[in-house]
Amino acid sequence: MALNRLVAGNWKMHGLSSDLGEIKKIARESRQYPEVEVALCLPASLIERAARAVPGFPIGAQDVHQAEDGACTGCISAPMLRDAGASLVIVGHSERREAQCESNAEVRAKAEAALSYGLGVILCVGESAEIRDAGQAVETVAAQLDLSLPPQVDDPARLAIAYEPIWAIGTGKVPTPAEIEDMHAALRQRLDVAYGEAGGSVRILYGGSVKPSNASEIFAVPHVDGALVGGASLRAADLIPIVAAAAAVEGAPIIA
Ligand code: PGA
Repeated sequence: MALNRLVAGNWKMHGLSSDLGEIKKIARESRQYPEVEVALCLPASLIERAARAVPGFPIGAQDVHQAEDGACTGCISAPMLRDAGASLVIVGHSERREAQCESNAEVRAKAEAALSYGLGVILCVGESAEIRDAGQAVETVAAQLDLSLPPQVDDPARLAIAYEPIWAIGTGKVPTPAEIEDMHAALRQRLDVAYGEAGGSVRILYGGSVKPSNASEIFAVPHVDGALVGGASLRAADLIPIVAAAAAVEGAPIIA
């Protein structure tokens, strides 16, 4: 079975009820590109209303707690996200790894919990500018992936990895195609080691300053199976050209 490319928007801490019209527009215009899977990961406060507003369009969250329920003030569990209408969740975004001090072990537990409740997972990894400058990006990110991956996955098509260099997020800076290819090839190899043949069905997204102007070049890089898009996902006028660029790349990204 061929898997489609995945373009997921990460709205971060943006979005009020007045933005539901834009969400509807993104869902409607995405339908022109059935060969691309499009999703929006929204602030928790908007998930239920968005899921009701765009039935059938994947709405996701940006974090999840690893426990099912309990004394965890301010946290949201996987069954709660499902209950609100979410079908996927981002885990291990660098903004959370840094500001909330999330460890690889915690990210792994969150991914496991989300998958076990039937959510899709976008698991983020990526290096700092210092690590890149020291020439240690590939081994650092590969090790981060090894320690963050759930030990097993029943349905690998529900897991995606997002390679997001921290220095590229929101900065307008993007690695060269060769740097992206080297990293994605290394991550693909780690997925094969972790899951065997099933690892081939885990999509690897690139994230960090993906824009309409650079999307075609990024999607043409081998082993790039989609994108995680921050700033450019807030408006249909920016996101839909990125989806169109994903649709225009020859061939399916990976074969399950
Ligand atoms: P950006 O964010 O596209 O605004 O760089 C990407 C992300 O943080 O997921």
